[in-house]
Amino acid sequence: MVDPFEPVVEADESVIAGLDHWRELPIRQQPVWPDEHAAHAASAQLSTLPPLVFAGEVDQLRTRLARAAEGKAFLLQGGDCAETFAGATADQIRDRVKTVLQMAVVLTYGASVPVIKMGRMAGQFAKPRSSETETRGGVTLPAYRGDIVNGYDFTPESRQADPGRLVTGYHTAASTLNLIRAFTQGGFADLRQVHSWNRGFAANPANQRYEGLAREIDRAIKFMEAAGADFDELKRVEFYASHEALLMDYERPMTRIDSRTGLPYNTSAHFVWIGERTRDIDGAHVDFLSRVRNPIGVKLGPTTSGDDMMRLIDRLDPDREPGRLTFITRMGAGKIRDALPPLLERIKGEGATPLWVTDPMHGNGLTTPAGYKTRRFDEIVDEVKGFFESHRAVGTNPGGIHVELTGDDVTECLGGSEHIDEATLATRYESLCDPRLNHMQSLELAFLVAEELGATR
Ligand code: PEP
Ligand code: CO
Repeated sequence: MVDPFEPVVEADESVIAGLDHWRELPIRQQPVWPDEHAAHAASAQLSTLPPLVFAGEVDQLRTRLARAAEGKAFLLQGGDCAETFAGATADQIRDRVKTVLQMAVVLTYGASVPVIKMGRMAGQFAKPRSSETETRGGVTLPAYRGDIVNGYDFTPESRQADPGRLVTGYHTAASTLNLIRAFTQGGFADLRQVHSWNRGFAANPANQRYEGLAREIDRAIKFMEAAGADFDELKRVEFYASHEALLMDYERPMTRIDSRTGLPYNTSAHFVWIGERTRDIDGAHVDFLSRVRNPIGVKLGPTTSGDDMMRLIDRLDPDREPGRLTFITRMGAGKIRDALPPLLERIKGEGATPLWVTDPMHGNGLTTPAGYKTRRFDEIVDEVKGFFESHRAVGTNPGGIHVELTGDDVTECLGGSEHIDEATLATRYESLCDPRLNHMQSLELAFLVAEELGATR
């Protein structure tokens, strides 16, 4: 255990100055605040508010991710594309945590290694957009950039960036994280209870295919019980928070010097990642995140070259520190089998051992004739399969999965055992951004990935 009361270590002047170097670099995807002073004041206020996570937890996560990179653990990262302030209710947070816990039990069985549980939660409020503006019925307004920037309603007032939202974002993240901590430490995560929810899933005739695996897990738990496993110990789980580190007026003030080490930690989340649109090697985001101690992720799309990847490693993980760097690949089901293996080959012999995670969501978007942004469950599964195949072929470790999901019974992605079709999308489409797997589809994906993991190990 890390002692939070160790002597205070001051940070180097140059370390502190470095945290603002990004301000001199090209930067993408930031809002234009109508009132710069108000934005400044909001950021200044954030810098005085308590950290949301503790540096010791962040260090612990780094060691866990290092194990995953070695093939001795598996990362499950999931949650909304864009969390909303209105969606930060007890029920919705509970159901998302529950979904991740249920998936984790299935994956743990499939992989026979610990599963690191991580939410795209408690700070996933800022979104990169492909266009600065949105036009509806001849009216053009600023694009929605996430609840921490502006409102979704299509009115000039709502779409104007409002710096007050930075502080609301912080408080919403704080209350979300508080509830996550309560659920995962207070008995809700009890292995036997989580498994009993999974039995309910497999008992549904639509999911008959997965009954065999659910029964095997059942037997394993009974065996643990009979062998005297300490189920009290299995009532608590580690659960980490993560989001895309996009909005610098939030990320910078939440970055603090840790008094144990004198080093900067982004205390808004345990893990943060750089998106596909902001990973320019000479840009602000890469520079800023190169300076924080958190484990960090980078999304890699299908056009990533081996040289791009090596430059990112040299900037973000120059010491080749285990657990420091995660590559989250989002190639598309049709491209992953061509695009991923060359990257995996290239890295061999470079001394770098990033954790490889698949995001089977962002390369598989489509828009229906009726105008719904959606994804096909089968393509999502196919990209996951392509991910495992690529790693198997090259001899590297497929270390985790990153998905957009919700615990609710929404109808945003096509397919799955409930056979959601284009007409059904309209019944309950709630995402303000990308389509998410619903509760059932998420569990189904976990069962399918568990089967793949069983085949890999
Ligand atoms: C996201 O994770 O919601 C996202 C925008 O992903 P990407 O950066 O991979 O496009
Ligand atoms: Co998304």
